[in-house]
Amino acid sequence: MAVKRICKYGEDILRKKIEPVNFADIKDKLPKIMADMRDTCKALRGAGLAAVQIGLELPIVIIIYEENKKFNEFFLINPEILETGDPFIDDEGCLSFPGLYAKTMRYNKIKLRTLTPEGKPVTVSAEGFVAKAIQHEIDHLNGVLFIDKLIESDKKKAEKFIKENKDEWAKLDESKPVKKTNKTPKKKAKK
Ligand code: CO
Repeated sequence: MAVKRICKYGEDILRKKIEPVNFADIKDKLPKIMADMRDTCKALRGAGLAAVQIGLELPIVIIIYEENKKFNEFFLINPEILETGDPFIDDEGCLSFPGLYAKTMRYNKIKLRTLTPEGKPVTVSAEGFVAKAIQHEIDHLNGVLFIDKLIESDKKKAEKFIKENKDEWAKLDESKPVKKTNKTPKKKAKK
């Protein structure tokens, strides 16, 4: 299991535009990338993660959602939105902005084209929570962040939260286990 560090708001990579890839060029390394994305997203209880958030400039996204008390996941490679439904406003967060939740405008339904992890081109539809998560993650591939999609009345609140927390976010490293502080330090093992 490999939980990776999440790139935080302020790091240049989150504003990069990620170009589509030839499936053949990533095929061999895909299983490891997918495992790392899954482990990281699950460990941090994210609804989704874009590869760029763990420092990989690749157009790969994972979505994890709960349905009938079961967690489902799927990967998108080179995803592209073809059609959108009606706008709706809902709370949203992002692993690159720990603790920040604010309202965004998204579409309630989407139709998209993507490659499956086997490299097969498919067209799929999604709605509600899953549609919102997909839009959020596809935005990451274009260097667009959820703070760019906030409704007007939540912008000030978000700005204030970012200002107060940005320095702490930069120091966070999710790949390191959380230190337990309620125990006395162990004696150093002799080598
Ligand atoms: Co995000």
